[in-house]
Amino acid sequence: MVRALLVAIAFIAALNPVQALAELRGERVEFDLGPEAYSRGMSLYMQYCVACHGLEYFRGPDAPDGIAPGLDPESAQAAFGVAPPDLTLMASARGKGLEGAEYIYNLLTAYYIADGEIRNRAFAEETHTEGAIAMPPPIPMDDPELPEKARDIAVFLYLVSEPSLEDRRSLGPWVLAYMALLTAVLYALNRYTWKEQKRKLRG
Ligand code: HEC
Repeated sequence: MVRALLVAIAFIAALNPVQALAELRGERVEFDLGPEAYSRGMSLYMQYCVACHGLEYFRGPDAPDGIAPGLDPESAQAAFGVAPPDLTLMASARGKGLEGAEYIYNLLTAYYIADGEIRNRAFAEETHTEGAIAMPPPIPMDDPELPEKARDIAVFLYLVSEPSLEDRRSLGPWVLAYMALLTAVLYALNRYTWKEQKRKLRG
């Protein structure tokens, strides 16, 4: 019984998924949630997004008070007609689990022009409109590295919106090991107690 528990723990620890697959319109996009992708995503964010979008509620070693946007929201609103939203919680706001990351990936890669207007397929679906969007394509559509860049930025924003995800994951196996140990001790104690009782009864 204890052995079965230990096997279960080893199994769950091995599952610890750093890679996560998401289905995007039949196309499989693999989100690598590891620390390298996170830090690549963060530098890409600082390169391509921070001019307009802040991460006001983000807390990191380099950013104890969050990240302010380059442009103040009023000037940005004057320039684009819509104030660029803060992105700290955007990935959670646009879907459960990895859906928010998928959305950001789609948004960055789904621009097109129609009727002389900048449009976005992902934004169209999200807002149930034609998809006219006030954000110009942050990464040029012809950048050959667009898919990788979009993926890393999506991962970064996903982890920003779910800051305790990694902690919860690394804690899991320890909690299970603790429970297993407790179970073993209680089992032994139970046997010992009853053995005493039975011995007394037999008298
Ligand atoms: C030049 C300014 C600018 C830059 C740079 C920029 N954005 Fe935006 N962004 C905007 C504006 C303006 C909006 C509001 C769009 C609207 O509602 O029409 C927006 C909206 C968004 C939204 C919300 C869309 C929704 O569903 O409501 C997301 C997500 C987003 N941007 C992500 C990014 C990411 C990621 C980057 C960097 C790769 C980036 N943006 C770079 C101006 C910018």
